[in-house]
Amino acid sequence: MSAFSKLSFALIIMVVWSCGFSTEKRRPKQIEDTQELREVKKVSEADIINKTTKLGDSISQLAGSVFMGKISEKYAEGGYKAAAEFCSINAYPLTDSLANEYKVFLKRVSNKNRNPANAPTELENQVLEAYEYSVEQGDKLGANVQFIRPGDTILYNKPIRIPSELCLNCHGSPSQISEEVQSILKEEYPNDKATGYKVGDLRGMWSLKFLKKEIVQGL
Ligand code: HEC
Repeated sequence: MSAFSKLSFALIIMVVWSCGFSTEKRRPKQIEDTQELREVKKVSEADIINKTTKLGDSISQLAGSVFMGKISEKYAEGGYKAAAEFCSINAYPLTDSLANEYKVFLKRVSNKNRNPANAPTELENQVLEAYEYSVEQGDKLGANVQFIRPGDTILYNKPIRIPSELCLNCHGSPSQISEEVQSILKEEYPNDKATGYKVGDLRGMWSLKFLKKEIVQGL
């Protein structure tokens, strides 16, 4: 073998080796599992997106009505103090039961958040900004579903608009929020940005993360 062909042989080996290596790196086991499952079940990405949209719609609708119901019940019973904790997602066993049943991680995010823990991630922020833009344009807002890459999860988002005056007791302008509520807000949420809303305003969005494997299995 000439020096030149020895070198090209070594290069080929190196290229093959590094390709094999990086392919392995780029394909975690979870993704391969889902692909196998998809092939066996013959489902397309469109099937997965449709199923996720349906599930996301019903889960966020259910969660939204549980929220509304509980907050108005508690507000009628005892005002802000009783109701406030029910505007936190952690107050609901619903979140745990959904997590167990559908392996879905549920939250609400907003750029004008009351609790900084509800700030959007970079990816969520892109969706939020697109919703904000649609609102400015007067377009209809719908659900948005996307695969989170690389990985094996799917992100479902749906806008939350202020549905009624009830919300303004705690998210409206200062004249709509009682002094008692204002002083509690100041104490508990010193960086509160979630005021000044009107009925119909975009308040934020639901953000649900599904495992692709679970969705494929349920098809
Ligand atoms: C009794 C007061 C109260 C009422 C009424 C209320 N909220 Fe809230 N809201 C809060 C509090 C307190 C938080 C912060 C919860 C937390 O710590 O996660 C919050 C948080 C939120 C968030 C999460 C984003 C953020 O700002 O941190 C959304 C979305 C939201 N509220 C929407 C609504 C909507 C829609 C309504 C009407 C159906 C409503 N709220 C009514 C007190 C209230």
